[in-house]
Amino acid sequence: MAEESLLEGELGPTGRPLPIFPEPAPPVDGEKRAAIISMCNQKGGVGKTTTTINLGAALVETGRRVLLVDFDPQGSLSVGLGINPHTLDRSIYNLLLTREFAPEDVVRQTSTPGLDILPSNIDLSAAEVQLVSEVAREQTLTRVLAKLRNQYDFILIDCAPSLGLLTINALTASDYVVMPLELEFFALRGIALLTDTITKVQDRLNPDLEILGLLGTMYDARTIHGREVLERVVQAFGDQVFHTVIRRTVRFPETTVAGEPITSYAPSSPGADAYRQLAREVLLRVQNG
Ligand SMILES: Nc1ncnc2c1ncn2[C@@H]1O[C@H](COP(=O)(O)OP(=O)(O)OP(=O)(O)O)[C@@H](O)[C@H]1O
Ligand SMILES: [Mg+2]
Repeated sequence: MAEESLLEGELGPTGRPLPIFPEPAPPVDGEKRAAIISMCNQKGGVGKTTTTINLGAALVETGRRVLLVDFDPQGSLSVGLGINPHTLDRSIYNLLLTREFAPEDVVRQTSTPGLDILPSNIDLSAAEVQLVSEVAREQTLTRVLAKLRNQYDFILIDCAPSLGLLTINALTASDYVVMPLELEFFALRGIALLTDTITKVQDRLNPDLEILGLLGTMYDARTIHGREVLERVVQAFGDQVFHTVIRRTVRFPETTVAGEPITSYAPSSPGADAYRQLAREVLLRVQNG
């Protein structure tokens, strides 16, 4: 794939020159080995679940096969894709702690062809406690995903707003981590703790883990405040910040009610296009990284 080229002089929302992201080439044929990416921030409500669903759907539009993993006992990812967590008879919990099901028996298709999900519900909160006494407890999710990895191009893990054992499992199983940040006053609060945790996982459990990028979400370009916060994030993290910034729009809460990604709910909306651009940026970073 071509390197990103620059639009002469045009600045993007992050204040840096905005590259043109090339049209992604189709995936290569043959045996797959999914790139695994965790969406992680222990701060609640920053756009982890929204990003997992819509980045996943945008990657599917480029011909990739994508598995989404709901790794939050709240089950918001499952709800956002039209699954009722209360009525699940099997979920990621069963794969982590029992051997009754094969992973293929728990994976479900969504209404978007090519986009599959490992759903979760409140049972997963028990896993956090039960895993503590398991051997190699931090690698439990790694072992589950190893059996699915050859069927997908990407596996995206939606983490809970916590840095507990479930999130450590997600980071241990991942090649990359994406940190969504709500572009509000306290955006950077807690990020030092998160990057510390990532460093510890790199040192002790998963030396291959890389930060793929920080993603600004719920951006309001009309306010000075929004622009200032984004500027501060770029000052602190430089090129680790994705050029793509997701604006605040009521379209995202609407998609949760609809139970489908924005790319099909409102395919020509700016929100859908933003996640399509993020997919291109992610593909480029994964290939060059
Ligand atoms: N760009 C956006 N504009 C407006 N609303 C958004 C945007 N992104 C997400 N939201 C809404 O903000 C709320 C929180 O988003 P989301 O559930 O994705 O965050 P989260 O980080 O997964 O939260 P939690 O920490 O609880 O898991 C949701 O109601 C979602 O619909
Ligand atoms: Mg969430």
